[in-house]
Amino acid sequence: MRRILVTSALPYANGSVHLGHLLEHIQTDIWVRFQRMRGHQCIYVCADDTHGTATMLLAEQEGVSEEELIKRLHAEHIADFNQFHISHDNYYSTHSEENQYYSNLIYTQLMDRGYIYTENVEQLFDPERKMFLADRNVRGECPRCGAPDQPGDNCDSCGATYDARELKNPVSALSNSTPILRNSEHYFVDLPKFTEFLKEYIHNGSQQPEIANKLNEWIEGGLRGWDISRDAPYFGFPIPDTVDKFFYVWMDAPIGYLASFKNWCTKNNVDFDDFWRRDSDCEVHHFIGKDIINFHCLFWPSVLHHSDFRTPLKVHVHGMLTMDGVAMSKSRGTFVLARTYLDFFDPDYLRYYLGARLTSNSSDIDFGSEDFVTRVNGDLVGKLVNIAARSEGFLAKNFDNKLSSELAEPALWQEFVDEAESIAAWYEEGDTRRVVRRVMELADRCNQYLANKAPWQLIKDADRRDEVQGICSMGINLYRTLIGFLKPIIPGLTERSEEFLNAGPLTWENLTQPLLSHRLGTFGRLLNRIDLKTFNKMIEAGAEKPLTDDAAEPESKSEDIQIDDFLKVDLRVARIVQADVVDGADKLLRLRLDVGDHERTVLSGIRSAYKPDELIGRSTVVVANLQPRKMKFGVSEGMVLAAGPGGSDIFLLAPDEGAEPGMRVT
Ligand code: MSP
Ligand code: ZN
Repeated sequence: MRRILVTSALPYANGSVHLGHLLEHIQTDIWVRFQRMRGHQCIYVCADDTHGTATMLLAEQEGVSEEELIKRLHAEHIADFNQFHISHDNYYSTHSEENQYYSNLIYTQLMDRGYIYTENVEQLFDPERKMFLADRNVRGECPRCGAPDQPGDNCDSCGATYDARELKNPVSALSNSTPILRNSEHYFVDLPKFTEFLKEYIHNGSQQPEIANKLNEWIEGGLRGWDISRDAPYFGFPIPDTVDKFFYVWMDAPIGYLASFKNWCTKNNVDFDDFWRRDSDCEVHHFIGKDIINFHCLFWPSVLHHSDFRTPLKVHVHGMLTMDGVAMSKSRGTFVLARTYLDFFDPDYLRYYLGARLTSNSSDIDFGSEDFVTRVNGDLVGKLVNIAARSEGFLAKNFDNKLSSELAEPALWQEFVDEAESIAAWYEEGDTRRVVRRVMELADRCNQYLANKAPWQLIKDADRRDEVQGICSMGINLYRTLIGFLKPIIPGLTERSEEFLNAGPLTWENLTQPLLSHRLGTFGRLLNRIDLKTFNKMIEAGAEKPLTDDAAEPESKSEDIQIDDFLKVDLRVARIVQADVVDGADKLLRLRLDVGDHERTVLSGIRSAYKPDELIGRSTVVVANLQPRKMKFGVSEGMVLAAGPGGSDIFLLAPDEGAEPGMRVT
């Protein structure tokens, strides 16, 4: 029996689980379930990545403590992953005692061995908020092309990358004040000292070839010290023996793997060191996206090795998920949250679709809506479930749900069973695309067999009735093997099938033993077909359900519209009869509007500019024929028009010459 520890990258605690995260957790979970099905010990841990400025600012925005915020999101994340059948053994938090312990331990080891140095760093500092500004918290003019309102690292307009200090006329996004330059002492891990170690490490087979090449390029280009400290105020762990210095979130995040596992070990009486000492014969596997390979394949192994821990046996790197050819984006609605998906589809459909697309390399994966619908309807429902549905009816009606006492076609059965080892090898490599492809070829083969035998004809012939039992029993047994092959990918459908097959959980061992003279359970509906319309509805719903109550980012480029398009928009004068704050949403006001012949409720992101009382009795303009939108905080029936850059500079458009509620705006 192999002893295997597996991790997925720790999702940030300041947002919801989305399809990109799910790609990774589904990939990991398939691998984990496969190992367990083979009889190995496979422990799967993860956690929320809680620390950093983003969490701090979000908590402040919501008016709660960081602890409260991360607790709420932790519960949400666990619920989301559970619904997708992600079988974590422990889903912990980086804001934990264990993590602080290992962070301090590793830091101290590195410090004692001379792998940490300090250096003065000059950075932009917000004098009002009294904090250093991360690149995304400062805006200014691009030093190359002069485009206004660019972030501190690169220009959206000309693509230039630069240092935040180079921005012209910088403004703090946190307080709108003008940042000043200030020095501070930072702590660095001396990565260049690990160059020789890394050169060897990247060739030990723990990376996919294309990843090893990329790492090699970076190493050859020369490594630089790695800044692991941040100044107060910062939500994180204080660095031992310093004042007001904290570990940068990426220092304690991977250590969160150790912490989550340690927490599980304590509860389950397993020896942590068995897995993590240098000469361990257990396995450690990380699953990550290709955007974070530098942290996992350069920094993390170096840190582990030089503080006397083993390094991971393998880092499995996947590509990025795009939606119908575009990056996941909130404004386009292609940023689909786990919960939005679940409002429309069965989790197994996503698992199946992504399983059918994932390989052992790190190329990006495009989620094609039509492809999704075709594969679910054509493969899962049309080919696979169809086998069970076709065979079961005859057995239930004519043979008391009982399978024949021997196999009608032993050679065909053997053909299926003989695939088990190559399928297992593909799972091991992470090439589930091949697994799915082969299983679907076998399903075709089985459907052909049923079509050739045509039990629906034979059943009418009294002399050949008995053959029907043999044929349909073949159908059921072949279905069972195929479901067994796919069990790690589609656990929900498998469980429903196991119930109907009435022979206990499928294992890699028993799926090659046929069921004979066996009585089946009752057949319920296994899966439904889906359609593109529902998919589009999901995208619409997603577009209106931002992560927090932040309004979706506006599209930067819009295409011109025709006059007809404009005329479709029904603009009306509305009078605000009531205005209330929305609990939990710091940008929204709930407005009750009189639009002439009726009243309606609109949620509007103008709270930063208006107090509710100031609005009552005022007139404004509303888009009256907008489909009601279900938002996180309720349904919004239309939109009010406002102008301005945001913050306190939002101006509700208000007609001032006697326009009455209900009047059309032309
Ligand atoms: N918190 C860090 C990871 C720390 S691990 C010690 C982080 N968090 S994340 O929430 O941004 O991403 C978590 C994982 O999800 C990463 O492996 C990332 O690659 C993956 N994905 C996030 N968006 C993704 C897609 N659109 N597509 C595929 N995977 C993506 O990074
Ligand atoms: Zn520019």
